[in-house]
Amino acid sequence: MRVRKIRGIEEEIEKIAGDKLILKPEDYRGKWHKIFGNNNPIFIEIGCGKGQFITGLSRMNKDINYVAIEKVEEILYKTALKLDNDHNLRLLLTDGRLLTEIFDDNEIDGIYLNFSDPWPKNRHHKRRLTSMDFLNQYKRVLKKDGRVNLKTDNSILFEYSLNTFAKSWRLENISLNYIHSSQIIDVETEYENKFRKKGNSIYRLEAINIKEGE
Ligand SMILES: C[S@@+](CC[C@H](N)C(=O)[O-])C[C@H]1O[C@@H](n2cnc3c(N)ncnc32)[C@H](O)[C@@H]1O
Repeated sequence: MRVRKIRGIEEEIEKIAGDKLILKPEDYRGKWHKIFGNNNPIFIEIGCGKGQFITGLSRMNKDINYVAIEKVEEILYKTALKLDNDHNLRLLLTDGRLLTEIFDDNEIDGIYLNFSDPWPKNRHHKRRLTSMDFLNQYKRVLKKDGRVNLKTDNSILFEYSLNTFAKSWRLENISLNYIHSSQIIDVETEYENKFRKKGNSIYRLEAINIKEGE
């Protein structure tokens, strides 16, 4: 039987996103400003999902560079469909675990974690994006005073994150019933929209990178 060659979804994303999809991100470690052609701050979202948040934010803040990271190609494809002439946004089809291979120390100004998979079973806690392994990577790539902004509707993940950040980050703006106000630059995510419609409370925190000895 003749096997029909199906185009990979990655190729489809590339077709839509063009040079906004960075195929070998590790090649740009320490050189992300060259990709954007300016020295503007760089913010990343890990687990961008279908991209409503990062595409919305990048359009609101043209003087900030954004990198959207998503490990599932079918999902990143949906983000690619939302792209416009977003000169300040790049897409990475990769796992957030590789962060320190992709970004150099102190290269990043902020990290967004929105409605990250909660991994409720205790034996899976290392997979949470706020496990100590991830936080150690965030500490390295983030500048001093750089922030991790986290939103979730999951109380177990939130409690866990408060405890991991509390070890060596400064916590600010902790909210157990986050309502968007004009003081915070923010965009509703796809999951947030779904959970708010269900009446779930949204938890939010900001963790500031204290770099000891600097
Ligand atoms: C529950 S969804 C939330 C999506 C989006 N942030 C939102 O709020 O609508 C979590 C997303 O994170 C992605 N993800 C989970 N772990 C990841 C990792 N280690 N690296 C990159 N993406 C990850 C998943 O594939 C999924 O698309």
